[in-house]
Amino acid sequence: MFNFPKHVTMVSALILTIGVGLQSALAGEDIADLGLGQVATPEIIAGWDIDIRPDGMGLPAGQGSVSEGDEVYQERCAQCHGEFGYGGGSRYPELVGGEDTLTTLDPRKTIGSYWPFASTLFDYIKRAMPFGEAQTLSDDEVYALTAFLLNLNDIVDDDAVMNSETLPRVVMPNVDGFIDDPRPDVIKEACMSNCIDKVEIVSYARKVGVTPDNDN
Ligand code: HEC
Repeated sequence: MFNFPKHVTMVSALILTIGVGLQSALAGEDIADLGLGQVATPEIIAGWDIDIRPDGMGLPAGQGSVSEGDEVYQERCAQCHGEFGYGGGSRYPELVGGEDTLTTLDPRKTIGSYWPFASTLFDYIKRAMPFGEAQTLSDDEVYALTAFLLNLNDIVDDDAVMNSETLPRVVMPNVDGFIDDPRPDVIKEACMSNCIDKVEIVSYARKVGVTPDNDN
C-alpha cells in the first residue's frame, strides 16, 4: 500500500470502517439512535415560523402606537437610520421619502415609496432589526415601530395603533406598482398537495457540459 508505515494503514482502515458504519446507519431509518439533532417540538417550530403574509396572516397578539414606537425607535434604531428615518449615508437605508422617484433615473426605494404591503414591515423588523441584535424586540415594540414608521411616511395618523386587525387594513401607496410575472411558463398558483404523479426528466445538465462526468 504505497509503502505507508503499517500504523498509518491501520488508522486509515479504522477511519474507513467508522465512515462506512456511519453511512450505513444514516441510510437506515433510525437516525435518533445516533444521538444526532433533536426532535422539532411545536415550540421550536413556532420559534422559526414567524413569517407574516401580505393579508396579515401570522400576525401575533399585541399592539403598539405611533408615540410608543417613537420612543423605541430613538432608543434602538435612530443611531443607524437617523432620528427621522432619513438613513445614515450609504451604509444604512433611508426609511422615509422617495415618493415619485421610482420611474426617475435615481429611484429611491423606501417603505413609503416602494413597499407594497404594510404587514411586511412588521415581518422585517421582527425578523431582522435592530441590525446585529435581531429578535430582541417584543411583539408590542414591533407593532409600535411599525406604526411609527408608517406615520413617518404619512401613511397612518398620529394617533394610529397597530395590531393584527388594523395593520392588514393599511393600504400602501405603491400597492399597485407591481405586475404579475407575464412569462407564460411561470406557475401562478403553487400546488401544495398531490401535485404531480410522476417526475419525468427531460434533459441533463451534463449535456451542456456544466456537470462533470461521474467517472472524473
Ligand atoms: C446597527 C445599525 C442598525 C440599527 C440599530 C437598525 N438598523 Fe435597520 N437596517 C440596517 C441595515 C444595515 C439595513 C440594510 C440591511 C440589508 O439590506 O440587508 C437595515 C434595513 C432596515 C429596513 C429595511 C429598509 C428597506 O427599505 O430595505 C428597515 C425597515 C429597518 N432597517 C428598520 C429598523 C428598525 C425599526 C430598527 C430599530 C428597531 C433598526 N432598523 C435598527 C441597520 C440598522
